[in-house]
Amino acid sequence: MRILAINGPNLNMLGKRDKSIYGDKTLAQIDTILKKEGKGLGVEIVSFQSNSEGALIDFIQENSSKANGIIINPGALTHYGLSLRDALDDSELPVIEVHLSNIYAREDWRTESVIAPIARGQISGLGWQGYVAALKILAGELKVKTKK
Ligand code: DQA
Repeated sequence: MRILAINGPNLNMLGKRDKSIYGDKTLAQIDTILKKEGKGLGVEIVSFQSNSEGALIDFIQENSSKANGIIINPGALTHYGLSLRDALDDSELPVIEVHLSNIYAREDWRTESVIAPIARGQISGLGWQGYVAALKILAGELKVKTKK
C-alpha cells in the first residue's frame, strides 16, 4: 500500500516558522516519523513538498494512479487553492487534510477550507501528531477495504 504525504507552501520552513503555532519539528523530521510509522503498518510513504500549486498538482497527477490515499497539508492553499482541490478530487483517492494549527482558532480567513468538502476528513490543531493519526486512520480504512 502506498500513501502520498503532500505539503504545500511554506511548510518547508517548519522548525523555523513560528514555533508557538507550528511546533519545533522540521518537515524532514515529520517525514521520517511518517515513514517509520508507515513501515510498521505496511505502508510506503511517498512525500512531496512544494511552494507552487502547479508543482503540487503535477505531483498528484503523476503519482495518484500508483497510490491508495493522500495525506495533505495544503498550507495557505487550503483557503483558496481551487485547482489543487480539483486535482485531489480528480485523483479519486481518499484524502485526509491535516493542519498543524487549529485553523478554527485563528484568523477568520483561515476558517474556510476549499479542500474539506472533497476530503475524507480533516485533522486540525494536533501538531505533527495529526499526520501520524491521519496515516493510521487511512491505512486502517484502506486495509478494511482491500479485505472486502
Ligand atoms: C496550516 C494552516 C494554514 O492556514 C497556513 O497557511 C499554513 C499551515 C497548518 O498546518 O496549520 O501554512 O496549514
